[in-house]
Amino acid sequence: MIGRIWKDIQKINFFGKSLAILYRILYHVEKSISVISKKKGGFTMQMYDLVQKTRRQEALTDEQIQWIVNGFCHGEIPDYMMSAWMMAVCCQGLTDAETAALTLAMRDSGECLSMESVGGVTVDKHSTGGIGDKTTLLLAPIVAACGGFVPKMSGRGLGFTGGTIDKLESIPNFSTNLPMERFLEITKEIGCCVIAQSGNLVPADKKMYALRNLTATVDSIPLICSSIMSKKLALGADCILLDVKFGHGAFMKTPEDAQRLAEAMVEVGKRAGKQCRAVLTDMNAPLGANVGNALEVLEVIRILRGEVRNELSELSLALAAHMLSLSGKGSVEECMDMAKQALDSGNALRKFAGMIAAQGGDPTVTEHPELLPQSAAKYTAVSSKDGFIASIQSEEVGLACLELGAGRTANSSEIDYGAGVELHVFVGDAVKSGQPLFTVYGRTEALCKKAAERIFACMEITTEKPVKSPMLYQVIS
Ligand code: URA
Repeated sequence: MIGRIWKDIQKINFFGKSLAILYRILYHVEKSISVISKKKGGFTMQMYDLVQKTRRQEALTDEQIQWIVNGFCHGEIPDYMMSAWMMAVCCQGLTDAETAALTLAMRDSGECLSMESVGGVTVDKHSTGGIGDKTTLLLAPIVAACGGFVPKMSGRGLGFTGGTIDKLESIPNFSTNLPMERFLEITKEIGCCVIAQSGNLVPADKKMYALRNLTATVDSIPLICSSIMSKKLALGADCILLDVKFGHGAFMKTPEDAQRLAEAMVEVGKRAGKQCRAVLTDMNAPLGANVGNALEVLEVIRILRGEVRNELSELSLALAAHMLSLSGKGSVEECMDMAKQALDSGNALRKFAGMIAAQGGDPTVTEHPELLPQSAAKYTAVSSKDGFIASIQSEEVGLACLELGAGRTANSSEIDYGAGVELHVFVGDAVKSGQPLFTVYGRTEALCKKAAERIFACMEITTEKPVKSPMLYQVIS
């Protein structure tokens, strides 16, 4: 405000239009005061008081929460006030009703889509993110092959490896920027479509997330819950499956924290009238064999072609079964049989090729995966001893991939689509000295060797066979 007043004073000197400028100064002063103390419905709502209430764990009303979100989105509540409130939320939490009100206010800050034109029950999935998590690319065609409809909006990645959109964009000519009408048409025709997040959905989240990143307020269950669920609700699918990951490479480090987040999200989904379920899954080791954009698409194609079966294919089938059962296609067990049949028959592969073609990509990559981008150099690391793979720290593998160029350090960073890691062994496997452990792909051999050292250091080899924990830890309905 002071800056604006100063600019106006300069203008007074320059133009001498003192009355008009004085009026503008008074306007700015009045507007700034009204931000702090705003009257609505006869009740004086002061942001200062609301921050204090949340700090004292006194619940806010739905109307007060809507007022905060709207005021912040319209630039009436300054960043420092919003940061103070979000810090109070971080420290003291919100009730279920407050979290739901925050989520709905954020959802309503922008456009909300209608899935009616798809003509069937639509089902969305969200993963809280992990290293090598390419389940969307598998479960979307599996669910589509079983008669389900998966309209999916995904993000680009920042850090570690790319997001689902970056992975898909490694397919030659694949377009993730489609008009909404085309998005819904493809979902109706093929059964699945994956596009990048639209700029008009949930602008409140963009503004709030940018501030959270700067003010150490990312790490809060009600704020994470409202951020994720507002975007899911704005997309408008009838059913939502949430894959909440825990472990080294995940947002939530422990199953207990993952459970608290999952319960909060399921509660909000139900309050918003959606069929909603969450699964807690293990992200201590990378998911599947490949980490890196084109390498992950390659692994998906190998699974869809029936050449590979591993923990990734098992988890994707389980997630697809939950999505189908949420959509009313039967019990989880019946839907699991349908999903397996869709994968084993090649129907899911045909759906994947159909989706690629509908989105402008080259569907022949499913027959000729060598068309995917490949890095110029590679390096294979071998075991220095006999033993068992006890752990592979996924966060370290992710950071090695980031150094190789598979992820972004800033929004403007260029991705090397061919870069990444292919694991040849998994937790629990027996290994012999000299046996290949993993291959690193990158622009130069030096880059590959450096990344290989980092991954080698995070692979623990023990003499005792480790006890393996299940990938799918818990279901929360
Ligand atoms: N993902 C989101 O979309 N929002 C958060 O706050 C955290 C993870």
